[in-house]
Amino acid sequence: MSNNEELIYQKNYVPFTRAELIDAVSKSITGSRFEHVLRVEKKAIELAQKYDADVEKASITGLLHDYAKQRSDSEFIKYINELELDPQLLDYGNAIWHGVVGAEIVKNELKIYDEEILNAIRRHTVGAPYMTLIDQIVFMADYIEDGRDFEGVEQARLITEQSLQKGVTFQMKSTLAYLIAGNKPVFPATIESYNAWISKFN
Ligand SMILES: [Fe+2]
Ligand SMILES: [Fe+2]
Repeated sequence: MSNNEELIYQKNYVPFTRAELIDAVSKSITGSRFEHVLRVEKKAIELAQKYDADVEKASITGLLHDYAKQRSDSEFIKYINELELDPQLLDYGNAIWHGVVGAEIVKNELKIYDEEILNAIRRHTVGAPYMTLIDQIVFMADYIEDGRDFEGVEQARLITEQSLQKGVTFQMKSTLAYLIAGNKPVFPATIESYNAWISKFN
């Protein structure tokens, strides 16, 4: 599919057409972040076609992965407390919360209950030791979408073309190196993810 506009949701995963979903996302995230989301959807669809995943689910999850990115810290903290999520989350911030807690916001506000979609949103910030094909696709689409321009992105794109799993591992390794170089703490699940992948797909 060369044009995402041609994609019509037919599987009843979410209570929206694609246009309605885009409209809902545009009310939650604005500006360059919204443009990023559209590029992630495009890349997720490409990867789903290449790696035989569910294209509709790739589109939905690509569009939703950063749904909560622009919410206030206090809103995330409220969700963490009310839903009794892992209290360790409180020691981190938006970079972790918008995925792990963002999935709960998507569920609550958009009435989306498909756990594979929600898990891909949860896991796009920290990964997981085991990831579904959709998890892996959204994780990589977020990293290599056409607007990304960081040192190493071309290498990440090439590796992901050859092996989705090697792409995931490359991203985990790069993210961990970046956090350490910047003297930043690492969320424990991020380390667990790295350990699991580096031992299998180095
Ligand atoms: Fe994100
Ligand atoms: Fe993103």
